[in-house]
Amino acid sequence: MVDLYRLFNPRGIAIVGASREPNKIGSVILRNLIEAGYEGKIYPINPNAQEIMGLKAYPSISAVEGTVDVAVISVPAPKVPDVIEDAGKAGVKFAVVIASGFKEVGNVALEEEVVKRAKKYGMRVVGPNVFGYVYTPSKINTTFGPNDIIPGNVAFISQSGALGVALMGTASVEGLGISAIISIGNKADLDDSDFIEYLGDDPNTNLILIYMEGISEGQRFMEVASKVSLKKPIIIIKSGRSEAGARAAASHTGSLAGNYSLYKSAFRQSGILLAETIEQAFDWAKALAWNPLPKGDNVVIITNGGGAGVQATDALADYGITLRRISDTLAANLKQILPPFASLGNPIDLTGLANAEWYYQSISLALDDPNVDSLVVIYCRTGMTDPKEIAGAIKDALKSSKNRKPITVAMIGGEAEYEAMRELTREHIPTYPTPERASASMGAIYRYYYAKKYVEERLKELDKKKLTALERIR
Ligand code: COA
Repeated sequence: MVDLYRLFNPRGIAIVGASREPNKIGSVILRNLIEAGYEGKIYPINPNAQEIMGLKAYPSISAVEGTVDVAVISVPAPKVPDVIEDAGKAGVKFAVVIASGFKEVGNVALEEEVVKRAKKYGMRVVGPNVFGYVYTPSKINTTFGPNDIIPGNVAFISQSGALGVALMGTASVEGLGISAIISIGNKADLDDSDFIEYLGDDPNTNLILIYMEGISEGQRFMEVASKVSLKKPIIIIKSGRSEAGARAAASHTGSLAGNYSLYKSAFRQSGILLAETIEQAFDWAKALAWNPLPKGDNVVIITNGGGAGVQATDALADYGITLRRISDTLAANLKQILPPFASLGNPIDLTGLANAEWYYQSISLALDDPNVDSLVVIYCRTGMTDPKEIAGAIKDALKSSKNRKPITVAMIGGEAEYEAMRELTREHIPTYPTPERASASMGAIYRYYYAKKYVEERLKELDKKKLTALERIR
């Protein structure tokens, strides 16, 4: 495993190309790093400046007296090899090369030169053609993206720059807390596998989300991903599904997007969840990052709308989940608190009269029932109820139960329901505006649940085969 500890926990970071002009990329990076609250030393490097943003500027990294573990390089591509040379002499461990103008535009030799010079000094390269990286536990933001990042447990690796930056914003809107964001660009040296492997052991990360155009070392990637997906979910958005998309990926980061169905089967074998859209990836990420894993596959739907319940049932079926009847005990307990016209099947239909108390009671009973493994809770707007109160009931029921089970929620309606959805999201209860998305996200939890079991079995099989081979050698 490549030791990335000092990339994520550096003692000092140099920003090479921090400019006197506030809107140049190097300056935005410097400003973000200062504003993120990074507690190590920050060194702006610019031969033409004495001071930038109140910090002493240095003409080169080798002129810095303190320890520099990371150099973020934001000078034009032709200047990068010399900066790398200087960084290497100064003992820098990681170079994050922001500049574009390498392999993606045909400058293969320049890119190779950068890696060759870095290798000479044992330095590792992130990029080139990247927007930087974030690690919230160390209060690092060396990107030229936004700085309103919510700290949390999801690591995001992006091969695309602009999309990656934009998705930093999406993560905030979705309330998805971030541990790390890594832009890997052309992957001239460090690649997806290196980061996945490291983040697999990172205690601050419980889910890895990746935007990928292509991988080069497929075998290694599968080995690493299989190992890591036993510990935490990996969700990948793989672009280049169509032939035209694959061509676009090639001209974007110089990646070979390859045959989509090959990727699909490799991902499945490695326990990776393949998301087809960004929306799906974020939906799944919330459900998986904020829920425990289920103990079994008995999913129960609680709804106040029959139609929404049917939609949710269909969407679960798309993920291979068939609903079973609720237990007699649960039905009997629900009968005590619900009116006679409530339907005690699965979905449990509380009917349009359902109030906050009914939601609270039925969720509590379902959580306490040992036969129920997970819950999809649906609220459809009615004239008699306040979605805020329903959200409060859901929250209270989860808080007051000693049984933690996976749950996804749908709040369907207008602005008030959206507000209730945001309220639940702030509490890390994965909530969606449609029953299909709530069910699909529950489906993703089960996809991971089975993927993990499958990878465990596959690795055991592989181990057995190795053992047989060993025995034969003896
Ligand atoms: N060491 C340190 N600083 C140096 C330097 C060196 N060897 N040579 C020049 N500088 C200074 C410059 O003087 C300038 O500071 P100033 O504005 O105070 O004079 C600063 O570094 C930046 O250099 P400049 O030549 O103005 O470059 P730039 O900021 O316009 O562009 C890049 C640099 C890297 C941003 C640009 O070349 C680029 O590649 N842009 C695309 C980036 C991108 O999209 N990446 C992928 C994202 S996914």
